[in-house]
Amino acid sequence: MLLRLGQVPTVVASSAAAAEEALKTRDLSFSGRPRLLMADRLYYGTRDMVFAPYGERWRQLRRVCVAHLLSPRRVLGFRAAREREVAALLDGVRAAAADGAAAVLNLSDLLIAYSNAVISRATFGDARGHGLDGGGAAKLRKVFGEFEELLGTVPMAEMVPWLWPVDVLTGLDRKARRTAEEIDRLIERVVADKSPAAAFEAGEEIDGVRLDTVTIKATILDMLVAGTDTTYTLLEWAMAELVNHPTQMRKLQDEVRTAAGGIVTEDDLPRLPTRVVINAWAIGRDPATWERAEEFVPERFAATDGDGEAAEYHKMGVDFRFLPFGAGRRGCPGVGFAVPSVELALASLLYHFDWEVPGGDRKPSAVDMSEVNGLSVRLKTALLLVAKPWQPR
Ligand code: HEM
Repeated sequence: MLLRLGQVPTVVASSAAAAEEALKTRDLSFSGRPRLLMADRLYYGTRDMVFAPYGERWRQLRRVCVAHLLSPRRVLGFRAAREREVAALLDGVRAAAADGAAAVLNLSDLLIAYSNAVISRATFGDARGHGLDGGGAAKLRKVFGEFEELLGTVPMAEMVPWLWPVDVLTGLDRKARRTAEEIDRLIERVVADKSPAAAFEAGEEIDGVRLDTVTIKATILDMLVAGTDTTYTLLEWAMAELVNHPTQMRKLQDEVRTAAGGIVTEDDLPRLPTRVVINAWAIGRDPATWERAEEFVPERFAATDGDGEAAEYHKMGVDFRFLPFGAGRRGCPGVGFAVPSVELALASLLYHFDWEVPGGDRKPSAVDMSEVNGLSVRLKTALLLVAKPWQPR
């Protein structure tokens, strides 16, 4: 489908076949990134890697990130960090649960703190994520929320350049400036007191790429944004869907509680038969590909299901029916990092607690599934739940 959005002709690929053509057959032609005004404002004039035009500089920056953070060997090396942060997440839930049977906890805040801590530990070698903004997880969620929302906003000037005053009048310009400054202060602090484990050193040449301070800040921002928001959003959707589907929840808890003993470790993950997190994304809603496309049916990702072959969501470029990580040259390099972070956290939350919406109302519509658009589509309101601790008998 061709849309003409102001001055920008835009092709929309909405079937698996069209996605395969763009991301595989014609991958090279579509390996650029559009020059987006908002990304320019928020990413230091797009000096980062995610929004970099396809070419040598992008290739080298991507290589640096993969070598220092995202390779299978590195990801394995972060296992202890993931397990420590899951323990902290569970402690957070326990502390709230200890306040009494009806204590309502803000799971969204705990999940964003978890996701940010995992990526911060990997990037800086410590858990600075929690204190990154000096104001705790709620503040972090707010800053990231605004950042993401702005990234997902198309300014009027992007489509119709002479209408730029509209962006001033609506306050969008001022909001973008304020958020960019706030994020820069955050990154400045991280770079200023970086720990010895920091992967990036100003002025240093790594793998043939000379990293100036702005490139370092922009690339760190890439990692924090790409690694925090995606992981947290996925976990939040998964928990919201499961709480709204008690039968699925019970089935998954039985699986996790059978596979693990006392505590969930990464060794238990391959024994879990169902990849639950995936359907929470529900991007692939094409009724030509999926039966009951609009429904939460995690079984479709198990070995065999009504849709024929299982969707291999993390094998990028193999299965185009479902593309949570994109595909092709610009596909997500963080997939190997994200999968254990998400699976360990979700399995642990399901193992140790039974979950309810406040008020004990477990009707399917109990969690409000309204969405808000941004770089990723998030739940509009924070996920408020009651957690009841569970002990193995
Ligand atoms: C559940 C977690 C995640 C999901 C669903 C996800 C999804 C995606 C998607 C859809 C893209 C765009 C692909 C395209 O343009 O074709 C992308 C790109 C990217 N992701 Fe992820 N991602 C996740 C986690 C991560 C993590 C943990 C990191 C790093 C710490 C990361 C780093 C990146 C980077 C750097 C790019 C840009 C690659 C490029 O432009 O060359 N992602 N991701």
